[in-house]
Amino acid sequence: MNASTSIKVELGPVQETLLIPLLGRAEETKKKRGLLRDEKAVEIVDRLEYDFGKWKGIQSLLGASIRTRMFDRFVERFLRQSPTGTVVEIGCGLNTRFERVDNGRLRWFDLDLPDVISLRRRFFEDGARRTMLAGSVLDREWMDPVLATGGPWMFVSEAVLIYLEASKAKQAVLQIADRFSGAELVFDTTDRAMVAGQARHDAMRHLPKESWFRWVCDDPKEIEAWRPGLELIESKTFVDADPDIVERLPLSIRLLVRWVPFLLLRRAGGYRLNRVRSGPRDEIPSKRPALERARSGGAA
Ligand SMILES: C[S@@+](CC[C@H](N)C(=O)[O-])C[C@H]1O[C@@H](n2cnc3c(N)ncnc32)[C@H](O)[C@@H]1O
Repeated sequence: MNASTSIKVELGPVQETLLIPLLGRAEETKKKRGLLRDEKAVEIVDRLEYDFGKWKGIQSLLGASIRTRMFDRFVERFLRQSPTGTVVEIGCGLNTRFERVDNGRLRWFDLDLPDVISLRRRFFEDGARRTMLAGSVLDREWMDPVLATGGPWMFVSEAVLIYLEASKAKQAVLQIADRFSGAELVFDTTDRAMVAGQARHDAMRHLPKESWFRWVCDDPKEIEAWRPGLELIESKTFVDADPDIVERLPLSIRLLVRWVPFLLLRRAGGYRLNRVRSGPRDEIPSKRPALERARSGGAA
């Protein structure tokens, strides 16, 4: 297909939300000192037949990119400890995290619903260390090739579980924790006020209610009670972003973070980025020889 041909967006209502962070990354790329550079996002936004104008200039675009950079940091830290580890990007949408964090040695899986993966395949290709998987996080089939790598594993879920009913979000976390002991899971949560306030949310109010967040999580610590061994290692808000991320934000927000963080927390403190461990690290099955063999033989 001609690289300039436009592509109609035909996505389910929750899937459509992937266009918000996509546009956020494209907009940051056009700035002189944006939070990230993502030429692919610019290209995709140009190619998609979609009314992006409804989100022009909204704050949430910047919020989505701050969140993305904070998630990148979680992954980068995991890869410093486990350079040949496996990362599963759950609900990847059209994200380009692999491009940002690839260290040349990791193993990567991009998982999303089938309509998203079909769209993703128009712009991205599988590679020796990177594989797209079509399915729901609530399925179990996608876990087999991931398990075969032998780990260690990190599961990244940026703005995905928040769209599920609470029971389904819990199911997703527990299914992963049961199968991948010692894994790290990073995912965000939204509190009651955020979930209830979507009619006023600058991005979500332009989408049908079926697209909105559902999972109310006022205190991520509650996750530890879901299963023995689940441990909340870290829970951050935007105020906890690393200084080099904050330094690239517009002056008005930098001042808020620096001098009156409680004002920012009042507006966005119910949104948290959480790092959870699924069990003790010494249970990581990568130490088992059979799985090591599966990794070197079949994981390309
Ligand atoms: C707001 S978008 C975030 C996309 C991506 N994580 C990013 O930050 O660019 C939400 C994503 O979650 C995906 N999603 C929703 N429910 C899902 C499910 N049950 N299994 C896998 N992905 C799902 C959607 O298809 C969509 O790509």
